[in-house]
Amino acid sequence: MILRASLLHAVGEGPLTARLEALSDGGLRIEGGRIADVGPFAEVRDRHPGAPVRRLEGGLLLPGFVDAHVHYPQTGVIGALGLDLLDWLERVTLPAEARFADAGFARREARTFLRALVQSGTTRALVFGSHFPAAQAALFEEAAALGFPLTSGLVTGDRNLRAELHTAPERAYAENRALIERFHGKNGLRYAVMPRFALAASEALLQVSGALLREHPDLHFQTHLNENPSEVAAVARLFPSARDYLDVYDRFGLVGPGAVFAHDVHPNPRELARLAAASAWVAHCPSSNAFLGSGLFPMRAHLEAGVRFALGSDVGAGTRFSLLGEAMDAYKTQRVHPEGVHLDPAALLWLATRAGAAALGQADEAGGLEAGRSADLVWLRPPPGSTLEAVLSHAGSVEHALGAAFALAREDAVAAVWIRGRPVFERGMLQAE
Ligand code: GUN
Ligand code: ZN
Repeated sequence: MILRASLLHAVGEGPLTARLEALSDGGLRIEGGRIADVGPFAEVRDRHPGAPVRRLEGGLLLPGFVDAHVHYPQTGVIGALGLDLLDWLERVTLPAEARFADAGFARREARTFLRALVQSGTTRALVFGSHFPAAQAALFEEAAALGFPLTSGLVTGDRNLRAELHTAPERAYAENRALIERFHGKNGLRYAVMPRFALAASEALLQVSGALLREHPDLHFQTHLNENPSEVAAVARLFPSARDYLDVYDRFGLVGPGAVFAHDVHPNPRELARLAAASAWVAHCPSSNAFLGSGLFPMRAHLEAGVRFALGSDVGAGTRFSLLGEAMDAYKTQRVHPEGVHLDPAALLWLATRAGAAALGQADEAGGLEAGRSADLVWLRPPPGSTLEAVLSHAGSVEHALGAAFALAREDAVAAVWIRGRPVFERGMLQAE
């Protein structure tokens, strides 16, 4: 089938070199879950005269968004105001995550979580999982049923959490192995090893994480890094012989090209150089960084050091699933940062699409509208009578239209979503299952 729409994506090697490519009357042919052809509508139709056409009137058809850091068990804690990271974890978030010991509850929450992602236009994600294997299996199963290409894994910790969330290293090894065997590489699912953060991990648990990565070199890795000054100081006390926070992970072989470190708000120059040398990724989570008062992301320092970063919603410290909103928060926080980077609409779209795909090791698979890629698509259309509709009616350029979408579009502007060519969401009707 051919989708006829106003097509837009971002190309380039990074946020500062990103530029937009737009086709106001474009055609995009989907076959076998992939973008089989793309170009001006008349040309695509002439090449495939028999193909059925669906016209997407108004709005913009974009590549699906890729969220590089979001927590499955935290949908219910969005909006718990007034706390810094460590108090927020102890008082709000860890108690909520303990409820995932109930597998039935976890499965319902998995459905809610996946629905929240797709109805926000997110079509791929690196998802921080649950501490409970049955809950994690439920997320993988629900993602497979929906056709959502999830990268996720069991979250592990063996100290400084709550007793019911602790997993001894040997058990963590066995539970990870069992989940990897069941889910990794099947139905579009990929597995990531995830010690929660250095503060919750013994050396033995970090060793287990490294062993899993050595045994399965195609696994991903994700954890938290340099989020909050009190957390950074506590990690330094817990690992007195480490050079810095990143070094705690590095000593166990956890810093490589398949690694994504969430936050990195307070890095030192050595850590930035090491992240760049290892080709590791950072997930920049602007709404979370502001919400928990963690600080302003030093984007310029990351760019100057050559450290690559993508966008993470970090729900539930992040305040919504929409990467449009997250990109706007990245823009605004750079505006108020004394050494902030100017991000134009192309940079924001690049960060919300290509960067996440590359961080997940899927740079050739997702993030753009080129023929050959997975047909992961989001149709943004302003709700009738909305402010966005009014602004778009005045937009004189595609840059302005996209800037308005970042400023104003939220869940209700996501009209339809396709993942791997399958319609998974239309406003007013969830076509999953
Ligand atoms: N560090 C360790 N766990 C978490 C979490 O759940 N959210 C955030 N933002 N930081 C963390
Ligand atoms: Zn997080």
